[in-house]
Amino acid sequence: MTQFPIRRMRRLRRTPALRRLVQETHLVPSQLVWPLFVVHGEGVRREIAALPGVYHTSVDELVKDAERAQRLGLGGVILFGIPQAKDATGSEAYDEQGIVQRAARALKRAVPQLLVIGDVCLCEYTDHGHCGVVQDGDIDNDASVYLLGKVAVSQARAGVDLVAPSDMMDGRVAGIRKALDAAGLARVPIMSYAAKMASAFYGPFREAAGSAPQFGDRQSYQMQGTNADEAMKEIQLDLEEGADIVLVKPALPCLDLIRRAKQEFGSPLAAYQVSGEYAMIKAAAQRNMLDECRAMWETLHAIRRAGADIILSYFAPTAAELL
Ligand code: PBG
Repeated sequence: MTQFPIRRMRRLRRTPALRRLVQETHLVPSQLVWPLFVVHGEGVRREIAALPGVYHTSVDELVKDAERAQRLGLGGVILFGIPQAKDATGSEAYDEQGIVQRAARALKRAVPQLLVIGDVCLCEYTDHGHCGVVQDGDIDNDASVYLLGKVAVSQARAGVDLVAPSDMMDGRVAGIRKALDAAGLARVPIMSYAAKMASAFYGPFREAAGSAPQFGDRQSYQMQGTNADEAMKEIQLDLEEGADIVLVKPALPCLDLIRRAKQEFGSPLAAYQVSGEYAMIKAAAQRNMLDECRAMWETLHAIRRAGADIILSYFAPTAAELL
């Protein structure tokens, strides 16, 4: 072993040029996916209080963000819809005239090259705020899977390039795959939120989507963050059911799972830097507690370094602009 003073680690840290030369982890815009919230109406661009710099936009304004995403070379956008009305079965989620379906058609017309992902879930659309249908106070798994298949098919028919189920029902990847194939949509890939923890960091999103559960919580379907082996099992099952890309969520609290999943499965792997991860950096920066830009890069690079090929993040356009 070569020891000090021959081996001086600081030599390669002396100048920006040297540091740049030995940088191991890189990010390119095509690895970043931008989550967007679409609402009914026209000319709407309302900042979401809990998510500074993130907006509720109507379809006409959404098109402008999509054009920006395309200009920046982002990997894509993922759409979350805020429905006109919520009901027990979240019916707008699988309505041909639903907000995400309208948005997808408009984006495919205006920016056909941009990858459009549809988040497939019911929680934004149900009056009780759960990710499935409720039967006797519990979330009915198989009835929910049936509806999720309908959501995926209607989104794919409207033009989304990729569907991303985020509900955590058992067997939903297989159910969605079957529904898509039966509808002649075998070409549409699935990115499953495979290991999704019941996390406190979804708080701002639930305000943005008005999707906080009206009773109970999501712990009967989302995973407990304490369990790594179980997370690997979830990912394995989703891959066996036909998931093309698997996703771990949230990102920063799950860096070990990202690393393990990349090593154990080698499939395309995504990680979601969720609303609370973004909001906490924003909030601290606003109070001058830390440097927002540096915190953004540090977290995005950490997620990449752990092994994520794709990062969903509200920072996507900001980061891409600086790249
Ligand atoms: C819906 C869904 C959630 C998020 C993505 N899809 C919220 C939840 O499970 O409550 C969270 C995203 C974020 O916090 O940014 N099932």
